[in-house]
Amino acid sequence: MGVLRQDGLPIPDEVRGMHDLRGRVALVTGAASGLGRAMAWGFACFGADVAIIDRDAAAAESAAAELASGTGRRAAAFAAEASDEQEVDEAVKRATQALGPIDVLVNGAGHNIRKPLIEFSKAEFDSLLHVHVRGAFLFCRAVGLQMRDRRRGSIINIASIMGHVGVPNVSAYAAAKGGLVQLTKVLALEMAPYGVRVNAIAPGFIDTPLTRQHPAEVRRRISDTTPLGRFGEARELIGPAVFLASDAASFVTGTSLVVDGGWTAQ
Ligand SMILES: NC(=O)c1ccc[n+]([C@@H]2O[C@H](COP(=O)([O-])OP(=O)(O)OC[C@H]3O[C@@H](n4cnc5c(N)ncnc54)[C@H](O)[C@@H]3O)[C@@H](O)[C@H]2O)c1
Repeated sequence: MGVLRQDGLPIPDEVRGMHDLRGRVALVTGAASGLGRAMAWGFACFGADVAIIDRDAAAAESAAAELASGTGRRAAAFAAEASDEQEVDEAVKRATQALGPIDVLVNGAGHNIRKPLIEFSKAEFDSLLHVHVRGAFLFCRAVGLQMRDRRRGSIINIASIMGHVGVPNVSAYAAAKGGLVQLTKVLALEMAPYGVRVNAIAPGFIDTPLTRQHPAEVRRRISDTTPLGRFGEARELIGPAVFLASDAASFVTGTSLVVDGGWTAQ
C-alpha cells in the first residue's frame, strides 16, 4: 500500500485503485476460450497487457485481436502445448520479449474426460495429469524464475471444486486438480520470501465449451443442485481473478478461492 493517512489508513484514491493493473503484464494459458479468455479480458480492462497462450493458435490470435481492439491494451498470442517443456519455455521467452516481464500468471489450460475409473485408458488418464499438473508446473517454473528475480508477482492456478470434493466419473481430473491445489500451497510457501503470491481458484460449474459437453439432463441437474440455481458465467471469474492478481490481495497466498454458487457449502 502506497500513500497512507496519519491514522494509518490508505487515502481513498489508493483504496479505489487497489485493483489497478496498469503497467503490469499478465500471461494466461488456455486464454483462447472460456474462463481463460474472460480472465484475460478482465486483466486488460484493469490496464494490464496480456499474453494469450493456447494450443489452438488460430483461436489464440483471434482472442488477442479481440482483446487489443476492445480494451486498447497490448496483446500477443503464442501457441503452445501446456505439457511440453520446450514449447512452454519458448512461449514464456517470446511473451516476455514481446510485452516485458510477467507480473501475473494464470494457468487455465485444460480439458476433462468423464467416465468410471475402470474404463480409463492410461493415455486418457495421463493426458489429464499432464495438462493440469505438469502444465502448471512448467509455466510456474518458467515464469516463477522471473518473478523470484524481480521479487514480485502473482500466480493463479485454475483448479476446480473437484480438487476439493469427490464426484463420480472424474477420477483423473479430480486427482489432477487436487494435485494442483497442493502444488499451489507448496509453491506459495517457497515463493513467499520473494514477495510472490501463489493462489488457486476453484470454480464450480461454469458455462463454457467444456461444460456444454454435458447432456441437457445433466446440465439441468447441475443447475438444480447449485444453491444459486444456475451455472456460473465465464465473466464471473473476472472479479476473483483480478482480486488475486492485484494489490487488493496483497496478504493472500497459498489459498484456493472457491467460486461455485454455493455448491460445496452443502
Ligand atoms: N468450465 C467449468 O465449469 C470449469 C470448472 C472448474 C475448473 N475449470 C477449469 O478451468 C480451465 C478452463 O476451462 P474452460 O471451461 O474455460 O474450458 P474451455 O474448453 O472453454 O477452454 C480451455 C482452453 O484451454 C486450451 N487447452 C486445453 N488443453 C491445452 C493444452 N494441453 N495446452 C494448451 N492449451 C490447452 C483449449 O484450447 C481451450 O482454449 C480448465 O483448467 C478447467 O479444468 C473449468
